[in-house]
Amino acid sequence: EDPKFTTPPTSQTGKAILYAAEKLRSSDIPVAFPTETVYGLGADATRDEAVKNIFAAKGRPTDNPLIVHVGSIKQARELLRPANAPPSEKYDIPEIYLPLIDKFWPGPLTILLPLPKNSVLSPYVYSTQTTVGVRLPSHPVALALALTSNVPIAAPSANKSGLPSPTTAKHVREDLYKLVELILDGGSCNVGLESTVVDGLSSPPAILRPGGISLEQIRACKGWEGVVVHKEDSANGTGAGSNVAPRAPGMKYKHYSPTCGVRLYLPDADQPSLHELKATAFGSDSKVVRLGVLRTRNWKELSQKDRDWLADQNVEYVEESLGESGEEISRNLFGALRRMDDEGVVIVHIEGVDEDMEGLAVMNRLKKAASVVIRKKASS
Ligand code: TXA
Ligand code: MG
Repeated sequence: EDPKFTTPPTSQTGKAILYAAEKLRSSDIPVAFPTETVYGLGADATRDEAVKNIFAAKGRPTDNPLIVHVGSIKQARELLRPANAPPSEKYDIPEIYLPLIDKFWPGPLTILLPLPKNSVLSPYVYSTQTTVGVRLPSHPVALALALTSNVPIAAPSANKSGLPSPTTAKHVREDLYKLVELILDGGSCNVGLESTVVDGLSSPPAILRPGGISLEQIRACKGWEGVVVHKEDSANGTGAGSNVAPRAPGMKYKHYSPTCGVRLYLPDADQPSLHELKATAFGSDSKVVRLGVLRTRNWKELSQKDRDWLADQNVEYVEESLGESGEEISRNLFGALRRMDDEGVVIVHIEGVDEDMEGLAVMNRLKKAASVVIRKKASS
């Protein structure tokens, strides 16, 4: 049994995929679908209007290029062929990527391929870039959709631009209600964070966005021993204004933020005391304020006595554990951030993790979501 099937397929699954594939092929209406990372909002990447509709539905800046999803390596290779070249001619994926493809496809890895002069892709997919990000997902529904429709599927995460990416069909519905006609429900996403975006065309090769495949895993591949993690110019949009096209255009925008304020504690900082918690619950009038805490590896759950003390101070308290392993924390993170908003939390305190293995992608997302980052106190 495939553990990636978090929702057992029903007799309707096949029908729904066929219907969605037909929609992709013959209309400009985007279709939301599950992948192993997060849900995507997909369109036929060769149709200008369909791709434009994705940007409109998400409220996404048009200079942030989309990832193209394929159902096979053959489909990926097709993207290298100029539109006017005969199908008989063979175009090869740059050699540097072969060890990665071997190990991590299908899976949460996006590679940048060079665009041919006359690409079949809509220019709205890649904007000002000379490359296109391509991914072969492992989720059976995503694969089936790409294979059945037999078109390259341009798909960003299916959230409103700026919000945490959706890891369930319900999240998609909440964000894009009325803007999307069809959501294929594949249960909750197994990885929970977006794919790792790598550029093997630069020297040294680079990770442009940390994600579901770790730096350590990539570094272990032939030709990738010297891989660097691309330093973002700015997480909050102030990097705009440079006249050089950003290498990872999406990274300059504010991202992944719940509506509530996020206080991120680096692993060397102490768990906040009751008084510190209370101090962040502004509005010291008699109004009740709701605080959230997301724990990972070391923070202790509050005792009933502590909760009672907070309640006496008019502070309500919502707490969750994201899990202990990197995999669990990745899988739970976006859903937990959304739950904090749903629960009416005003400020959430989050216990950060070390930036190795899955921790690099987790902390990348959390630092973007954070309004305040708390480090070890200088005196201690
Ligand atoms: O896991 C994922 O990657 C999900 C699922 C749906 O596949 N998709 C996703 O797409 O996260 P999106 O659009 O939310 O993020 C795509 C990221 C952005 O940071 C974008 O700037 C970058 O990939 N990207 C896409 N094409 C690029 C290119 N040609 N050069 C540099 N960066 C690119
Ligand atoms: Mg996104």
